[in-house]
Amino acid sequence: MTQDELKAMVGRAALEQVVPGQIVGVGTGSTVNHFIDALATMKDRIPGAVSSSEASTARLQAHGIPVFDCNDVGEIAVYIDGADEIDPAGHMIKGGGAALTREKIVAAQSRRFVCIADASKLVDRLGAFPLPVEVIPMAAQRIVRQFAALGGQATLRLKDGQPLVTDNGQHLLDVRGLAINDPLGFESEVNQWPGVVTVGVFAHQKAQLCLLGTPEGVRSLRFD
Ligand code: 5RP
Repeated sequence: MTQDELKAMVGRAALEQVVPGQIVGVGTGSTVNHFIDALATMKDRIPGAVSSSEASTARLQAHGIPVFDCNDVGEIAVYIDGADEIDPAGHMIKGGGAALTREKIVAAQSRRFVCIADASKLVDRLGAFPLPVEVIPMAAQRIVRQFAALGGQATLRLKDGQPLVTDNGQHLLDVRGLAINDPLGFESEVNQWPGVVTVGVFAHQKAQLCLLGTPEGVRSLRFD
């Protein structure tokens, strides 16, 4: 099976995690796009969704699925999103699709995080995937130097030759060369650097369940 077929398989499998009658939290990315397309088949059984990006909002609305603002809903039963890496404890690196800040906000508002990913995303230790960090533009070069002091090489993410601007109007760094041995401690430390909006380590908002797409079928990893 191709990687995209594995993503489609877990996107469909995630439908079983959606609670009928309840708003569902929806992440961002190619795996989630498959989930959104599958969700359209049960749109009459949910009031709608809370979305983590403009891209997912557009796709949900194109399917006729109502999208609510976080501020207009209470606790969300389940948040379904992909990951760039996930470790055996359910900690993740996210933000390859530049949506990490809104993803972390929706995850924090949700009772459960269900990660959907193809098998290539499961790693022993986080850090091979370049770590996305959303930053306030005026702080970017100081934060680059702070990562250099930890042994990381941070570069500004570009789009069409210009700094990529996130849905929140900020910039993104991608940090290579980090070995993240203590995801909780690392996330806590980087979060308090002035100018960091969101670090793409999801340890405080880790997954409770991962539906992993493998050639043998969907593997369920539980982390509670
Ligand atoms: C977007 C994300 C995505 O969940 C992550 O990049 C995985 O994407 P894909 O499903 O396309 O492999 O964090 O910000």
